[in-house]
Parts: sequence; C-alpha cells; structure tokens
Amino acid sequence: MAYFSRKKIDALQHLYKINLINSCSGFKSANLIGTKSKAGEENVAVFSSVTHIGSSPPLLGFFCRPTTVMRHTYENIKETGIYTLNSIHLDNFEDAHHTSAKYKKSISEFDVTNLASEYKKDCFSPFVKDSPIQLEMQFVTEYPIKENDTILVIGEIKGLYINDDLLEDDGFINLSKANITTINGLDGYTIPKLKKRLAYQRPKIFKQ
Ligand SMILES: Cc1cc2nc3c(=O)[nH]c(=O)nc-3n(C[C@H](O)[C@H](O)[C@H](O)COP(=O)(O)O)c2cc1C
Repeated sequence: MAYFSRKKIDALQHLYKINLINSCSGFKSANLIGTKSKAGEENVAVFSSVTHIGSSPPLLGFFCRPTTVMRHTYENIKETGIYTLNSIHLDNFEDAHHTSAKYKKSISEFDVTNLASEYKKDCFSPFVKDSPIQLEMQFVTEYPIKENDTILVIGEIKGLYINDDLLEDDGFINLSKANITTINGLDGYTIPKLKKRLAYQRPKIFKQ
C-alpha cells in the first residue's frame, strides 16, 4: 500500500496534495447552489461539501472556501438568506463543473452553460431546471473554521422537490434511479448504483 506520513503530505507538490486529500475521505455529494443578489444577478456554482447535519429540524451545511477572493454564492446567501441546492444529473455534469470558473458577478453561469434557471413558488433564488432533486434553503447560521479560514454555512430546508419515480414508500430517495452524480476528489464525476438497502441493525446476542 502507498503510505504518506504527515511529513510527506506537507512536502507534496500543491496539485498532487489537493488531489490526494480531496479524494481520501470517499465520494462526495455533488450539488449546484443557485443564488441571486438583491440587485437581481443570478449565480450558480458547483459544491462538493454539502452534508447532512440533522433531520429535525432539517439542516444541511456546506463549507465555503476562504473569502479572500470574491465568493458570489456566499455573498448572495448573506445578502438574501435564500439559496437552492440542486442535484447534478449525468446529462449536465460538464456544464455543472464549468460553473466553478471565476466569472464576474455580472455574468451568470446560467448564461454561459446549458443549465437553465427555474423559479418555483415564491422562492427568491433560482433552481436548476430539470435537476432531479431541488431544495429551497434558508440560511440559519455560519461558523468560521479558524484552522483554515473556511466557513461552515448552515441552512434549513424550506421546500424539497423530488422527481416522483425516485421517491420510495418509506421516504428513501433512490438516487441511483436518477443518474445523479457524485464527486471523486476535485474533478472526477461518477454515477453510483445502489446495491441493496439493509435493515436497521441491533447488537448481536452472545450466549454467556
Ligand atoms: C467539483 C468541485 C467542488 C467544489 N466544491 C466547493 C465547496 O465545497 N466549497 C467551495 O467554497 N467551493 C467549492 N468549489 C469551488 C467553487 O465552485 C468555485 O469557487 C466557484 O467559482 C464559486 O462560485 P461563486 O463565486 O459564484 O460562488 C468546488 C469546485 C469544484 C470544481
């Protein structure tokens, strides 16, 4: 097996190190975050750090990289409090990836890709049209991570749209059925296939 001590990790060439460390924790969720500034400028960007925080209340978080450069998603969320999370379908993962390019705020990633914005009910921020799972999120709080100047942004699910054929009787969303992508490292996109669901586990009973 390849082995990297902490000393070796620290000495790695930058790109090699970020590829390595971004891959080692396993597959990551792939989401497009849709936002809009108060002035009406739409924004959409890819994020691989969206994670479950709790179900009651329904909370999700994501990590925002250091705000030493302009972070339009973060700025818009702080300005309006509303954002959307949209799963990335196999058909548009290349466009989704392109949203990571650093465009000026006045340029919407919806205009430079085939991704289309969609408005639903009274949600201020745009959803990504045809995304199999779309969530309307309300900003709740943020925690600065002082160790690396990132920010954990926490939001509450205000509304959840799911393509009908993915939703099973017990609330399980069968992501495999929708060809929803997941991310390996920084730039590898893959489509997982569900093997099997397992029952709730209880401790085994051993005879004394
Ligand atoms: C696969 C992938 C995953 C990413 N995940 C994150 C993330 O979790 N947090 C983050 O701050 N940036 C992440 N980025 C970088 C943002 O997509 C990039 O900074 C983008 O320009 C942000 O757009 P904005 O300035 O419009 O918000 C990721 C980029 C890629 C390609």
